[in-house]
Amino acid sequence: MFLTKIDTLFDIVEQKKKAYVLSLAKELGIPSSSVIKIARYLEQLGFVELDYKNVKGAAIKYLKTPEPEFKHVDETELVNKLKFFKSFQNVKAANKLIYDLYKYLKHRDDAETKETYVSVRKYYVENFMKSFDKKIKDPITKIDSYNIDVESMVVEVEIVKQELEPVPFYMISLLRISDITRLVIDKIKEEVISKITFNIVFKSHEEENMVRNEYKRKILGIMKDVFPDLSEDRIHIFSDYIVLTSLGMGEIEFLLRDKHLEEVVINNAFEPIWVYHKKYGWLETNVIVDDEQEIVHYSTLAGRNVDKMITTLTPLMDAHLKTGDRVNATLAPISTKGNTMTIRKFAESPWSITDFIMTNTIDYYTTALVWTAMQYELSILIVGGTGSGKTSTLNVFSIFIPPTQRIVSIEDTREIRLPRTLHWVPMETRLPNPEGKGEISMLDLIVNSLRMRPDRIIVGEIRRKKEAEVLFEAMHTGHSVYATLHANTVNEAIIRLTTEPIGIAKSLLGAIDLIFVQNRNRRTNTRRTFQVAEVLENGDYTLLFNYNFKADKLLKVKDPYMFYKTIELFAGLDKSEVDKEINDKIKILKYLTDNKITNNEEIALMISYYYINKDYLMKKLFSGGDKNTGPD
Ligand SMILES: Nc1ncnc2c1ncn2[C@@H]1O[C@H](COP(=O)(O)OP(=O)(O)OP(=O)(O)O)[C@@H](O)[C@H]1O
Ligand SMILES: [Mg+2]
Repeated sequence: MFLTKIDTLFDIVEQKKKAYVLSLAKELGIPSSSVIKIARYLEQLGFVELDYKNVKGAAIKYLKTPEPEFKHVDETELVNKLKFFKSFQNVKAANKLIYDLYKYLKHRDDAETKETYVSVRKYYVENFMKSFDKKIKDPITKIDSYNIDVESMVVEVEIVKQELEPVPFYMISLLRISDITRLVIDKIKEEVISKITFNIVFKSHEEENMVRNEYKRKILGIMKDVFPDLSEDRIHIFSDYIVLTSLGMGEIEFLLRDKHLEEVVINNAFEPIWVYHKKYGWLETNVIVDDEQEIVHYSTLAGRNVDKMITTLTPLMDAHLKTGDRVNATLAPISTKGNTMTIRKFAESPWSITDFIMTNTIDYYTTALVWTAMQYELSILIVGGTGSGKTSTLNVFSIFIPPTQRIVSIEDTREIRLPRTLHWVPMETRLPNPEGKGEISMLDLIVNSLRMRPDRIIVGEIRRKKEAEVLFEAMHTGHSVYATLHANTVNEAIIRLTTEPIGIAKSLLGAIDLIFVQNRNRRTNTRRTFQVAEVLENGDYTLLFNYNFKADKLLKVKDPYMFYKTIELFAGLDKSEVDKEINDKIKILKYLTDNKITNNEEIALMISYYYINKDYLMKKLFSGGDKNTGPD
């Protein structure tokens, strides 16, 4: 733990019960103005009292000590507690105690607490693991740990599993400082915040940076007064901490910067925030918001970004943050336990087809198949369960659209991001305002898009009958449509489309050419393309590929038929010509993975070369020379 002069000062006052400012200044080696500043903060916190009237000069009087999680880490007391739990066979309570002690230790990190932890844990191991269930392992197992860099701070993340607790814990350790220093820093934060207008929404990046810098300058000033002896680095760390946690979403900002997380959810102000970790699934964090109002505040901030409002009259809101993270917020009493916020993090670097292939989400052949389908304007439906990767897949596949074609994308909340090479008009729906006016629905946008002369229409998600009807109409009038639909299998997708509330006539389904099913493995959390099917003219389907869990790959069920037939009909290529193209595409895809080209802009460039001058590209990539340089 990092001790500051605040800690030493308070220690002295606590011991002596009363200390003079001048002698404290001397003892601590800091100016007496700093001693007074620190004392004022401690006074506001109710720990000391400043006495100016004293004849011998200003004095600081001790009032009380802040209450830590553990009052004092007393070994005998802790072991006695464990004995008590043992007599009731209450392993769970024992586990909790060990875990609390562990958390406390994480924060402190001093030799004495460590020793206590070791001996208390030893008692636990001897008494609980031996006499109860042999299967009970170490009370706490560390699963993983890593650092995230946030400005000048290095935040340590530790993921631990506690025995008998179903969900592992995600712990961030922010500043390793004492409770008392932390409380003072929080006070400084409060003070500065109340001086600037808090509810600011920045019009532009420059404005935001200006306010941020101004704010940081103010804090740095105060910090230098309060911590006159601290190094520049430390002062910057403390100041960054304050800036980051007060402009924006408080400690949640740290979670948002962890790129291993997919989702950050607040269920209410009383329970800790949960996160969905790419590798470990759901985890409970040690971050918690102060009160329900804070959640409303964050939701409002998110809403203002996109001109949406959350109010008791409109208690449900979809929005996104500047970083692109998607936000859904709900207010109590609609969400009965409190206000909620669900943040789906925008992948910092969006998924690319190379990532998909390298993580074994999809194989070369299937990718080349979909590429060819995209090239020749086949319509594709991407289906899957919640969080199975539908939208990511849609985005990844869209890169295969030739740059000469006009794309309109329509979403409730913008998630699709296409490379610059493509000719793309993104559109987003809007909710009605509080007077019920100004709504722009998905249907409005789909209908409108047809007047924008698009070649390709990308639709976030099909949910309602009217949308589906217009989309099928669009397909039948020669547009290629790419959309997602919530369903777990091809069969389910067909059923969903043809029964209420969507209820499209089965005979219309023939307009879809291919259906891709994405799946999230419910055990390992890995994402895989699960099924590929083609739709026949009458609306029946043929399964082409099916995922096999044991082999962990897509196995062929049947050769495509409609796929070749449609391409032959509209592009005049026979099967062998199409197969040759598929093979060339596989080569290019292998080139991408061999050279680990994962950036979508780079990939898009390569694909555009393919469309502009395929022979040139193939020659450039594969006829000797330095293989590592792509086309100029
Ligand atoms: N191939 C993949 N491998 C690993 N993670 C993936 C893969 N594809 C997507 N993900 C991750 O899964 C999460 C959900 O992805 P996405 O939003 O695309 O799913 P979705 O099916 O559209 O979800 P929703 O049902 O919420 O619309 C994201 O965090 C994304 O980064
Ligand atoms: Mg989605």
